[in-house]
Amino acid sequence: MSLLVTNIGELVTNDGPVRSDAALVIEGGRIAWIGPAGSAPAADEMLDAQGRAALPGFVDSHTHLVFAGDRAGEFAARMAGQRYTGGGIRTTVAATQAASDDELRATAARLVREALQQGTTTIEIKSGYGLSVPDETRCLRIAGEFTTETTFLGAHVVPASFAGRADEYVALACGEMLDAAVPYARWVDVFCEPGAAFDADQARAVLAAGVAAGLAPRVHANQLGPGPGVQVAVELGAASADHCTHLSPADIDALAGSSTVATLLPAAEFSTRSAYPPARRLLDAGVTVALATDCNPGSSYTTSMPFCIALAVREMGMTPAEAVWAATAGGARALRRDDIGVLRPGARADLVLLDAPSHVHLAYRPGVPLVSTVLHNGVPI
Ligand code: NIG
Ligand code: FE
Repeated sequence: MSLLVTNIGELVTNDGPVRSDAALVIEGGRIAWIGPAGSAPAADEMLDAQGRAALPGFVDSHTHLVFAGDRAGEFAARMAGQRYTGGGIRTTVAATQAASDDELRATAARLVREALQQGTTTIEIKSGYGLSVPDETRCLRIAGEFTTETTFLGAHVVPASFAGRADEYVALACGEMLDAAVPYARWVDVFCEPGAAFDADQARAVLAAGVAAGLAPRVHANQLGPGPGVQVAVELGAASADHCTHLSPADIDALAGSSTVATLLPAAEFSTRSAYPPARRLLDAGVTVALATDCNPGSSYTTSMPFCIALAVREMGMTPAEAVWAATAGGARALRRDDIGVLRPGARADLVLLDAPSHVHLAYRPGVPLVSTVLHNGVPI
């Protein structure tokens, strides 16, 4: 069964220039052909885009969707002047530990559906609100019901039950907890933030243990202040250093000379009323930049990639084209995937149609639900 999507007014492929009056054919969940609408081959079925813009489905390479409860009160307190320190993570850990599998599954399902409706066709999901061997394991098992991009973040913070015994907790996260997590995880992550979470040596230990167990590394780096996270990420060949809010010139140089993607999460700065990451300096230095939501109940409770694109353009000096690339191809790079984030023959048929003539409208019309049709593996949802 083949599907012809035709009359695409503007097609962003991330594989060559933006096309106008384009069409594409989908077969077996993959892109089979792309070209001018006027010379499209016949197909079994047809979808008329009626001049709308189309682009690859968004790749949200950083979320924390397995949790219970919310922290609206903490958000309100912050908007009244309180600072974000990451301390609220333990509130969500307590709620998550007390929740049933079905409650966790229902929340994750609701958020994955919400994301998909807004054009997210690939989503990464981390653990990190379990922080015990059984709870981290079940959070990852539930994450794996929604995506293959699952990340073990047992080293999110030191849980209350290990207060004053951080090194003992790191040993657990590198040992028994990791062993239990490995069957359900592709990635290993650590919140490297001395003071609030883990220092450089602890982060190295967690990542090295994960790598030895067959996981690939990524790092929460330089979110709350300057620190060693980015350097540790580059040193360990991490696929991505995420947040990158507080960077030194040496951090930017290190990223520029590496294959580590800088994944920027501007909805976290929005929701914590913090300064935005230096996207322009990163791009100008040649660093590969991705955009993701960081969806979690504390620092960034949004599933909307279009919202992140709008923030990146308005607040971080990215052009609409750079932001759309970062939210699609950039996310794919951050997940070391070449079958998504791009539309070319052989790639996954994950794409969105906008109720707009151009990708620019994603930032130009902020807060408006422009994603009108989502095709996931070639199937309209
Ligand atoms: O990516 N930085 C650490 N973790 C999350 C915050 C989680 C929370 O506040 O619950 C983040 O922003
Ligand atoms: Fe995060």
